[in-house]
Amino acid sequence: MRFEAFSRRAADQRCDCLVIGVFERGELGSEAQAVDRAMRGRVRALLARGDFSGRAGETLLLTETVAVRATRLLLVGLGSRLQYSRRAWRRALRDAITALARTRVVSAALALERPPGRELDDYYVGRTIAECTGASLYRINDLKSTRKPRPPALARVLCGPFDAGALSAVRRGLAAGAALAESARLLRNLGNLPANVCTPRYLAAQARELESTYRRRLRVRIFDEAGIRRLKMGCFLAVTRGSEQPPRFIVLEYHGAARNRAPIVLVGKGVTFDTGGISLKDPPNMDEMKFDMCGAATVLAAIDFAARSGLKLNLVGLIPACENMPDGRAIKPGDIVTSASGQTVEILNTDAEGRLILCDALNYARRYDPEVVVDFATLTGACVIALGNHHSGVMANDDALARELVEAGVRTDDRAWQLPLTEDYGDQLRSNFADMANVAGREGGAITAAAFLGKFTQGLKWAHMDIAGTAWMGGAAKGASGRPLSLVGDFLTRRAGG
Ligand code: BES
Ligand code: ZN
Ligand code: MN
Repeated sequence: MRFEAFSRRAADQRCDCLVIGVFERGELGSEAQAVDRAMRGRVRALLARGDFSGRAGETLLLTETVAVRATRLLLVGLGSRLQYSRRAWRRALRDAITALARTRVVSAALALERPPGRELDDYYVGRTIAECTGASLYRINDLKSTRKPRPPALARVLCGPFDAGALSAVRRGLAAGAALAESARLLRNLGNLPANVCTPRYLAAQARELESTYRRRLRVRIFDEAGIRRLKMGCFLAVTRGSEQPPRFIVLEYHGAARNRAPIVLVGKGVTFDTGGISLKDPPNMDEMKFDMCGAATVLAAIDFAARSGLKLNLVGLIPACENMPDGRAIKPGDIVTSASGQTVEILNTDAEGRLILCDALNYARRYDPEVVVDFATLTGACVIALGNHHSGVMANDDALARELVEAGVRTDDRAWQLPLTEDYGDQLRSNFADMANVAGREGGAITAAAFLGKFTQGLKWAHMDIAGTAWMGGAAKGASGRPLSLVGDFLTRRAGG
C-alpha cells in the first residue's frame, strides 16, 4: 500500500475515486463544498433528491463524475456536524476504506473533513489514516477450505488537502501508520491461529523469522525446556508440566541505538492455550483461550515495528511460551514451587498461570539493567469486569511510566486506564506455606495479579498492561483486535525521540 499526502485541491487529484464526507441533513464540509462546486452542484442536487442522508455508516458510490480528475466519487456519512469528533472521523475512514474494498478502485483520494480544532496534530492525522486503512483491509487468516474472495484492489491512498507546511508531518505519520498496520497484521494473524497450529514452537519460529528479516539489528535466542530448567524458572516450568507441547523461552534483542544505551524490555504472556489446568475452566467460550498468547504477539509485533521503522533505541522482547493443561503430571492446587528469583510460590489456583510464567521472565529482565520494563498479558477476567473492552488496564510501580503509557493510548485512541497498585494488594497474597500464594480472592483481581508480579520487579521501573478485555473481540467480530500495538508503537517512537 502506498500513501501520499497532497496540498492542492482534491478535485485535481488524478485517481480512481474521490472520497468526500457529508454531514447529516446534507450539510457539506468545506472540502466537499469545493468538490460540489467543481462538479457544478451535482452533489447538492443528489442530496436534495434525498438519495443520501449523511448518517454515520452510510456510503454511496457514484460511478460517473464531471469536471474532477477522479473517475468515481464516494460519499461517506459523517453523522451530526455538532458531534463530529475524532471517533466519528475514524469511523468515516473505516467506512470509506471498507466501501472502496468492495470495488475495483486501485487509487483513492480521501478528502474527509478533519476532526475539529487542534485535537489531532498533523502527524497523528497521517498515522491514523494509514493505520485505519490497514485495519479495514485486514482479512482474517481463516482456515476455510472454500475459495478465498478476491483481495481488495486498493493499492494507493492519497489524502488531503493539507497546508503545505503540514505535509512533512503528515507524511511521517503516514509512514509510521503504514508500518504499524503491517505489524498489526502479524499480531492479529498470530492471535487468530488455533492453538493446535500456534504452539510455543510456532511462536519461536516466528521470532526466528523476524531475525532473518531484520538480520543486522535483531538477535534471537530460544531456550528449550532444558534451557529453562538451567535458568531455574521453577514457576514457568510448573505451568508447562501438564502439556505435551514443549515450552519455549524466547529472547529477542533489537539494537537500534548505541550498545551502551540501556534497553527497554517488553515481556509478553505466551500461553498458547489456557484450559485452566487442574483448576479447569468452564467449557463455554473456552476456545477463546487460544488468544491467551496475545501479549506475546504484541511483543513480536512491537519488535517488528521497531525494526521495520529503524527506531533508534535498544529493545528486548521476552516471551515465556507454553500451554496450560490438566494432566497426571500437571501441577495441583497447593503445590509449592521456587521461582528464578528464589522466592517460593504456593499455587492455589492453576488457572492463575499467566503470573507464574511472567514472574520468571520479569526476573530475567534484570540482567539487562533496563531503562524500563513493560509486560503485556491477557491476565485476568477481573480486568474485563473492571474496564470492559474499551480500556486496557495499566498498573505500575512508577507513576510517570504509567502516565506515559496512558497518554500514548490517548494520542492513538488505543485507550488504557491506570488502576492503583498500593502495598495493600500485595499483602492479600500471604500464604502460611510459602513466600506468597499465586491468588488472593476475587476482589480487586486485576490488581492482586499485578501485585504478584510486583514482587518480582522491585528495583526496576516497571509497568504491567492487562489486555484481557482489549486484545480480542467476541461475538460476530470474533478475532484478534490488534490492540495494544498502536499504544505501544507510540510509546516506543517517543522513547526513541522520534
Ligand atoms: N487467561 C486468563 C484470563 C482471562 C480470562 C482472559 C477471561 C480473558 C478472558 C487467566 O489465565 C486466568 O485464568 N485468570 C484467572 C485468575 C483467577 C484464577 C485468579 C481469572 O481471571 O479467572
Ligand atoms: Zn491465562
Ligand atoms: Mn488461566
